Amino acid sequence: MSAPRGQFSSNLGFLMAAAGSAVGLGNIWGFPTNVAANGGAAFVIFYLVMAFLLAYPVLMAELTLGRHARRNMVQALRGIATGPVSKGVGTIAGFSGIVVASLILSFYAIVAGWMVAHLADPFAQLFGAGHTAEWLTGDSVSRNFTFTAIFSGLTMLIIASGVEKGIERWSTLLMPTLIILLLLLIVYVLTQPGAIKGLEAYLIPDFSKLSPQLLLSAMGQAFFSLSLGVGTMLIYGSYLSKQESLPRLGALVTLIDVGIAFTAGLLILPAMYVAQEAGTQIYSASGDLIAGPGLILQVLPALFDTMGTSGLFVAMAFFALMVIASLTSSISMLEVPVAFSIENLGLQRRPATLLMGLVIFAISSVIIFNFESLFGLVVSISTEYGQPLLGVVLCIFAGWIFRKDQLLSELKEGHPHIERTLFWKIWPWYVRIVCPLLILAAFVQTII
Ligand code: PFF
Repeated sequence: MSAPRGQFSSNLGFLMAAAGSAVGLGNIWGFPTNVAANGGAAFVIFYLVMAFLLAYPVLMAELTLGRHARRNMVQALRGIATGPVSKGVGTIAGFSGIVVASLILSFYAIVAGWMVAHLADPFAQLFGAGHTAEWLTGDSVSRNFTFTAIFSGLTMLIIASGVEKGIERWSTLLMPTLIILLLLLIVYVLTQPGAIKGLEAYLIPDFSKLSPQLLLSAMGQAFFSLSLGVGTMLIYGSYLSKQESLPRLGALVTLIDVGIAFTAGLLILPAMYVAQEAGTQIYSASGDLIAGPGLILQVLPALFDTMGTSGLFVAMAFFALMVIASLTSSISMLEVPVAFSIENLGLQRRPATLLMGLVIFAISSVIIFNFESLFGLVVSISTEYGQPLLGVVLCIFAGWIFRKDQLLSELKEGHPHIERTLFWKIWPWYVRIVCPLLILAAFVQTII
């Protein structure tokens, strides 16, 4: 017999966990980087449109299917299937969700490991351990392996403690800490010379950069940021009580996610221009703002170095922020294969966490030892192909295969008058027709 299912103890607990999953490196690193590379506020506007018009409806599909089934994605999709074909598709999609979530975690843990190493660096400097500090910020295989292991271990510890004592407790503690750190850092950076130039670059749109590519990046960013397609939100929805209103909670999660991404932009872009003022190069040879790893791992550390001892504390706060953001997201990814092992393979939570955590760590290790050839490939397969395609399948299941009366009775739980709302008038056909078509159109563009 499998262990009893966990459940979030309150609506706040769910909100912190789901927002914690959504808010991660994608918000604090990915979003500002995309903004820097794609015409400032022009990208911000596209992103807001994509988040509310495309990502929110798909998030609702995941939450509704999950809470209805009270099971992982494989079981949830199989459960509502009406014939052998939909059962087969549901099974394949459910398993693909588990594989894609695991692949995302395998590269995410490496990047998060860099953040842990950079968090340890100012401590090493404070204690005068120069060699250690060099190793911590150098890009060696041994450093990457060690810190991916540490980060994966932390993720496993939280997941092994279960839904309420692990996921909910840690998310409820870490999310407010993240917001406080973010606000403190913004206040500090905005008082430094050069910051206003960064605000201008962020908030004044450069529409000359608009292109179909921009729309695609905005869609990819929104899907990644809301953790969609891989069953993370579905499984969190399955731990949610029937007394909560799904459309309202989903909208809150989307608002928090978008709000924190926007707020992170108020930190990162001004910080880049402060770094420029302090003598750091912030434009690449091609004349674009430095984005990608160079931004977080070189430009910002160079800025902290110019600040003397106070720079050490600013670095600690910044990388603590990054580690917290990563951890509340990584636990949601690990929960996907773990929930499957508990519910379908009958394992207890602890052995399931150990098994799945180690398998994913083994994949991370293979990537670390073959970084040049594998890292970009795994990112692209999982986030550019896996997430959008699985998003389409989830829309089809919520919109075509799930019967409308079942859909209505699920949504009525916690929201008895849902029939009278704009949400009920729009969302069912929107998720049935508009979402899959839009995602597919964008996806075909990517391939071409
Ligand atoms: N939403 C996370 C971020 O923005 O960093 C990344 C993520 C978490 C993607 C969970 C997918 C997932 F299942």
